[in-house]
Amino acid sequence: MATTESGNRTVADIMSAPVVTATAEEPVTSAATRMRELGVGSVVVVDDAEHAIGILTERDLVRLAAAGANPDDRVREWMTPDPDSVAPSAQVSDAFASLAEHGYRHIPVVDDGRLVGIVSMRDLMRIAQIQPAENLSHEVPRGLEGVVVAETTIGDVRGLEGFYHYRQYDAIELAEKRSLEDVWYLLYHDDLPTSSERAAFAEEIRPMRELPSDVAKVLPAIAATAPDAPPLDLLRTTVSMMGAALGFRPSLDLLGAELRDQAMRVCASVPTLLCALYRLTHRMTVIEPDPELAYAENYLYMMTGEVPTPEHARAVEQYMISTIDHGFNASTFTARVITSTGADLAAAVVGAIGALSGPLHGGAPSRALGMLDDIGTIDKAEPWIRDAIERGDRLMGFGHRVYKTDDPRSVMLRSVAERLGGDNVEFAKEVEQKAIDLLAELKPGRKLYTNVEFYAGIVMDACGVPREMFTPTFASSRVIGWTAHILEQAADNRLIRPSAQYVGPPPPQPVPAA
Ligand SMILES: CC(C)(COP(=O)(O)OP(=O)(O)OC[C@H]1O[C@@H](n2cnc3c(N)ncnc32)[C@H](O)[C@@H]1OP(=O)(O)O)[C@@H](O)C(=O)NCCC(=O)NCCS
Repeated sequence: MATTESGNRTVADIMSAPVVTATAEEPVTSAATRMRELGVGSVVVVDDAEHAIGILTERDLVRLAAAGANPDDRVREWMTPDPDSVAPSAQVSDAFASLAEHGYRHIPVVDDGRLVGIVSMRDLMRIAQIQPAENLSHEVPRGLEGVVVAETTIGDVRGLEGFYHYRQYDAIELAEKRSLEDVWYLLYHDDLPTSSERAAFAEEIRPMRELPSDVAKVLPAIAATAPDAPPLDLLRTTVSMMGAALGFRPSLDLLGAELRDQAMRVCASVPTLLCALYRLTHRMTVIEPDPELAYAENYLYMMTGEVPTPEHARAVEQYMISTIDHGFNASTFTARVITSTGADLAAAVVGAIGALSGPLHGGAPSRALGMLDDIGTIDKAEPWIRDAIERGDRLMGFGHRVYKTDDPRSVMLRSVAERLGGDNVEFAKEVEQKAIDLLAELKPGRKLYTNVEFYAGIVMDACGVPREMFTPTFASSRVIGWTAHILEQAADNRLIRPSAQYVGPPPPQPVPAA
């Protein structure tokens, strides 16, 4: 099964050692923390004599979260006991066969009863260059939940802890202490800028906010063709046009620096495009970007025609910083898949915008505010929410694929909303509490909490952002994350081409004559 590249290499040649271990009686949360801190996908559970008695993997942690398990549970309750092991002298191809057959991702390497290393599917595949066997496919969870599909240095989400980060920094702390431009710089350049780097970056962005004249010229016609279309749909069209007008070529044929320039250009012009399209569909004149204004101020200015108050500009900026990136969400994954084909940057961004537009991803904040409108007064919250959940509806602004505890973005935005004040904030907080209580009662064990979208709507509404611009505002910041991922994917590319498990009628059936 292995190609010649695996040669005669043995497991000892490729295993990782020393092994990160846990004891059966320690709390599962402490083992999970160790896994994350050390960047490993599993821990081997050992007894006093250092015999491998179990293995605890990231997949077990996902199971644990999904089952709503108690964080004080012991490792013993969640580990796979008596794991298969492999000898260090085994051939790589034999070890792969054993992994593929059982669907394991990690196998302890045991020599004479003693744990000496661990070998992962990834190690084996890298060495043996073996395609994943079809008998692994049944292991893949629906919606790819918990499946690791790439490596990234851009950031990560730790769902059990309610924490996410951009590179080495806590994303929420960045939203509290830094400007959007600084965080953009961080995503593109691995670290925060010095003051001279900040000034140079601002200089670089400024002229890029202007749209290419050929594109600006046709916007009125586009808006007139579809005056009722959501701004995000029109953004899809115009980003595609921009890519074509600026001659974007397949990323496969470009040097990193050229692709970075295109990425900067698209990020800088998305707010301009969105605000122009929004104003044109409402028969208002387009407002040109103001080079003197910072990113968020300029965005609100181009949208409303007025320079915003510092409070409003900062609130929207904090929202935007907190939504720049968030792990392998659907739109980011889409951008990376498209880039992996070598397609041009505009194609990847257009695909990502499409993924973001869905209500299960980015389309929820205006619906969350719509829910508050529908509820109307706090006395109606309980029956309204109960009915909705019993009908099988989803409460917009609640639940998350990765967070099984408070979404840190919603916690931050709740405090931003409180800072801005207004009647709606108190009402929203009461509805939030009712919704969480009822979700716990009617969907026990699912761990459903408020997500970023619930207070996003409240904050943007308080800052004068019209509802139809909520998801577009999300797109304006997320495009920075998408493009950082596009650059990362292009810099170390391999076509992303997974498999599906065929579950239809067995082929080949005779084809009936027409
Ligand atoms: C975000 C979301 C798509 C994640 O979905 P997921 O990880 O695929 O979760 P599932 O669809 O597997 O849901 C698990 C269970 O929780 C329930 N659930 C999840 N989110 C819910 C919500 N917002 N309201 C009511 N029930 C919800 C599901 O009905 C399901 O219940 P079941 O076990 O009885 O079938 C989902 O929580 C959702 O639709 N939320 C509302 C939309 C939203 O706010 N999107 C913005 C995301 S940032």
